[in-house]
Amino acid sequence: ETKRLILAFESSCDETSVAVVQNGSEILSNVVSSQIKSHQRFGGVVPEIASRHHVEQITYVIEAALTEAGKTIDEMDAIAVTQGPGLVGALLIGVSAAKSLAFVHQKPLIGVHHIEGHILANRLVQPLTYPLIALVVSGGHTELVYMANDHSFEIIGETRDDAAGEAYDKVGRTMGLTYPGGAKIDKLALEGEDTYHFPRAMLHEDNLDFSFSGLKSSFINTIHNKEQRNEPIDKANFAASFQAAVVEVLVTKTMRALEHYSVGMLVMAGGVAANQGLRQGLAAALTAQFPEVELVIPPLSLCGDNAAMIGAAGDMLLQQGVFSDMSLNARPGFMF
Ligand code: KG4
Ligand code: ZN
Repeated sequence: ETKRLILAFESSCDETSVAVVQNGSEILSNVVSSQIKSHQRFGGVVPEIASRHHVEQITYVIEAALTEAGKTIDEMDAIAVTQGPGLVGALLIGVSAAKSLAFVHQKPLIGVHHIEGHILANRLVQPLTYPLIALVVSGGHTELVYMANDHSFEIIGETRDDAAGEAYDKVGRTMGLTYPGGAKIDKLALEGEDTYHFPRAMLHEDNLDFSFSGLKSSFINTIHNKEQRNEPIDKANFAASFQAAVVEVLVTKTMRALEHYSVGMLVMAGGVAANQGLRQGLAAALTAQFPEVELVIPPLSLCGDNAAMIGAAGDMLLQQGVFSDMSLNARPGFMF
């Protein structure tokens, strides 16, 4: 039995990550160096600061990933790296490191789409069966993706404005939560109730698209009105009301996608897949409406940006013989 080993890189935003993945399914190491603290006082990711951190961290992260896996670069079958989408300066650090190592050690190079990585992170949970639908929810993306088979992506629904994670973070800022606010709102929501009934945009429209900017504005206006009247802000109820609106829309549109496309599997992907309300809401709706569809949810450690997911996607491309050459470049606006 042959074993495939991939050294994988992810540096599209504010995590510097390197992983060693075996056979696309087993994580030997997945080292993530987060820069969140350096960006917090600016309320979001500052591209220049991100690039500098990646440069400072990358060699240590590579060494840590290899040491933890107990492997050398010469044992690798290929080197995979996030090509895009993401911040160009940040992407370039991972791309340059991957290309240099591939050149020096004469290894095949594989450029990976960041969102493909988020979706195929689920390969690290269990084998995927096709066709499947992926609900991709992150800081930059909110999409329903239909996959007829490996490496085939059809966007069947997407946000018309803000991504779900972006809305969480903006709303979090209004409540005085440090960046990124998503996980903090999720936690607060547990202690509150949906008392504000914020709008559920496009819920009854017959499409699979999303819109979160109206919800965000409604939330911010409601908070500002309360502040003007010097009324206390019941943060838990605000959080629970916001989360209820987001989850209802995401769950309803995902169920509608399952009505239109016959699939055997639904997978969650992206940072917002860590959301407890969404995980529970999706599981409950699926059990009630499509009990025959299998739900795959990545563990929390594989929801946010990490290199193991790039290794999982890279391994699939390795098996298909989809390689890049030394002209591989960062693609900040990379589309499926
Ligand atoms: O996938 P990711 O790590 O980076 C991107 O590719 O965007 O996603 C980050 C996003 C942030 O907006 C963050 O607030 C959100 O995921 N997030 C959450 C939770 N954990 C992270 N949003 C809601 N609930 C959570 N538990
Ligand atoms: Zn991401």
